[in-house]
Amino acid sequence: MPGRLLSTLLVGTVSIALSDSLGTSAASLPNCLAIVRQTPSCFPVDPQDTVADRINAALSAPGATGFSLKLCPDTNYPISAPIKFAFPNQEITTQGFPGLDLSHRATITVNGPINANETGHSTAVDGTCDNCTSVALRYVQIQGNRAAGSGPIVGGANLEFGGNNQNQVIEWVHSEKPRSWSCLHVAEGPFTCANALIQNNDIGPCGSDVFGQWADGISLSCKGSTVFNNTIIGATDGGIVIFGSPGSWVHGNTGGFA
Ligand SMILES: *[C@@H]1O[C@H](CO)[C@@H](O)[C@H](O)[C@H]1NC(C)=O
Ligand SMILES: *[C@@H]1O[C@H](CO)[C@@H](O)[C@H](O)[C@H]1NC(C)=O
Ligand SMILES: *[C@@H]1O[C@H](CO)[C@@H](O)[C@H](O)[C@H]1NC(C)=O
Repeated sequence: MPGRLLSTLLVGTVSIALSDSLGTSAASLPNCLAIVRQTPSCFPVDPQDTVADRINAALSAPGATGFSLKLCPDTNYPISAPIKFAFPNQEITTQGFPGLDLSHRATITVNGPINANETGHSTAVDGTCDNCTSVALRYVQIQGNRAAGSGPIVGGANLEFGGNNQNQVIEWVHSEKPRSWSCLHVAEGPFTCANALIQNNDIGPCGSDVFGQWADGISLSCKGSTVFNNTIIGATDGGIVIFGSPGSWVHGNTGGFA
């Protein structure tokens, strides 16, 4: 009897949901596949001129601790300002991962202004806030968008992590062509950064071979960190540069020239 009551309730709920969301009656649908296909939607890129503001509003909204921001596969997000993690345990990823081929990762493209005095927009994602412990960036591509032949501008790396935080994760991320000095920087903060995990990323090219226009692949300044199984192709300064970072384990990485 309880089982029968439950199934009756489910049938009632389903037909209400269908007529609400599709504007049609349940009877006119050929089958129930429409329900199976419903998935939470990924973060809309349009309108593109406000996409950075909208992402930052979602990350900094009250209660967004632990929020997982899912970008859309095969989609380019041109941002006019850095995307900023705001609370512990937040994640930025591409919807459908793990499970899709890496070629389907969303792309975040640095697209803000460069000023005449060689400052400007250089950072795609910033995880250095005072409340950014245990944030994770995974399964995205970062296009730093340094124009061919252009020198570096003054500013942060493509990816700026670390600070007064622990247990951050950057994995399965591609990062290339930073406008500034590094494809990925994990900073010491007040020497309290600890335990960053940087693994399975494919990095480069970073910078150019022209004198003074070099850039690092990975720049690590965070104690007790792990840098594992990254591929760095075409870094023009250090492939992996380690500042301090006592107790870190850097192993199984590969690199080469572009
Ligand atoms: C560089 O130029 C920008 C835009 O004009 C300005 O906001 C900024 O203060 C300048 N920075 C320096 C260090 O001069
Ligand atoms: C950090 O996040 C917590 C929620 O996880 C919040 O209560 C606290 O006010 C935040 N602190 C700052 C400095 O934003
Ligand atoms: C190392 O990274 C490659 C991608 O570059 C991946 O195919 C492989 O599974 C990773 N290995 C481990 C042990 O995670």
